Amino acid sequence: MTVTGSALITNVRPYGDGDPVDVAIVDGVISALGAGLEAPDGAERIDGGGGVLLPGFVDMHTHLREPGREDTETVASGSLAAARGGYTAVFAMANTAPVADNSTVTDLVWRLGQEVGLVDIHPVGAVTVGLAGEQLAEMGMMAQGAAGVRLFSDDGKCVHDPVLMKRALEYSRGLGVLISQHSEDPRLTVGAVAHDGPTAARLGLAGWPRAAEESIVARDALLARDAGARVHIAHASTAGTVELVKWARDQGIDITAEVTPHHLLLDDSRLETYDGVNKVNPPLREASDVAALRQGLADGAIDCVATDHAPHASQEKCCEFSQARPGMLGLETALSIIVDTMVNAGLLDWRGVARVMSERPAEIVGLDDQGRPIAVGEPANLTVVDPDAEWTVRGAALASKSQNTPYEEMTLPGTVRATLLRGRVTARRTAGEWQ
Ligand code: DOR
Repeated sequence: MTVTGSALITNVRPYGDGDPVDVAIVDGVISALGAGLEAPDGAERIDGGGGVLLPGFVDMHTHLREPGREDTETVASGSLAAARGGYTAVFAMANTAPVADNSTVTDLVWRLGQEVGLVDIHPVGAVTVGLAGEQLAEMGMMAQGAAGVRLFSDDGKCVHDPVLMKRALEYSRGLGVLISQHSEDPRLTVGAVAHDGPTAARLGLAGWPRAAEESIVARDALLARDAGARVHIAHASTAGTVELVKWARDQGIDITAEVTPHHLLLDDSRLETYDGVNKVNPPLREASDVAALRQGLADGAIDCVATDHAPHASQEKCCEFSQARPGMLGLETALSIIVDTMVNAGLLDWRGVARVMSERPAEIVGLDDQGRPIAVGEPANLTVVDPDAEWTVRGAALASKSQNTPYEEMTLPGTVRATLLRGRVTARRTAGEWQ
């Protein structure tokens, strides 16, 4: 059963445009927009404080670690982190234990998400059995199960066998689902722990070359062309990937791509300290890649932002760099990083933020109730942002069960004031404190 709520949000500017208005919500649907509105019956009141109202964010790329590593994240803790980050829908990656390569696991994650009810959790199905890259998983069964899986990925690993990827794309077309590829030629990244450039060479770290990503992006664009299928590029990290996606789209290939907040802010100069918190896959690249990714996101070559929220236990991060697990927390800091790197840099306005964090991801995965216009009759999946507030990131204070944020002690611009899922308040911050 779908739970809905009624609410009155006062004093907000939809998309940051124009004078502040009130937004009335009845049973999960926006019922009125305008000045001085009456609160609907039983409405929860939210003071928007003159902030920006956006459609709730949609994350195509989250790791929730349940089942299997509930010590690092659960559907419940990850849902709270998502709601506090302004998200109303997230896609939970398949590299759990057991792997989400069958409908028993995908339906379990789906049910857990429904029970928690803070954000719509859409399980991602694995493309290959056990993420082993050898045999296709039962994609059709997962698509037809209760979870209605619509996104498939071996994320964490690349579907590197071209014959298998070709078949997976052909099936995905038939099923009307999308494959998100973790683009990494594994032969080029054996033992690699850092971007293959001058910094890694100086620090004595084994390098992960750009070509390992770009060669798979190019290959999969061509495979998608021949299969008449769509393909999505997970966590684009190089300037060359931006160019290849543009090239493929110019050829009429149905390709989309995401970028993570960390690849928009951080570069490999962070590795000087050998702190495992900066280890991530694909690795932090060079400043020129960061600039190209920002430009690509601004001009639409890169479609959307996806967090690649990857919780890890402290013993898996606070160890020798080569042994540290790759991955960074992302859900609770994504908005602030986008404000910092894109809005404050003049590369995106708030309409642009709505596009890359909500509308495009919802369109790409085909969610018809997310990323919708802020208008009467539309579902009230909404995020109220305070663009002028700042906050200081402290891993210990995050909702996530893990603390591996690369932004520890950084003061970042932009906070989420409230998140609403179908009119129900799922996160709310007053005077800097979560209620
Ligand atoms: O850094 C990463 N961490 N990249 C991935 O592709 C997987 C993820 C994880 O599961 O920790």
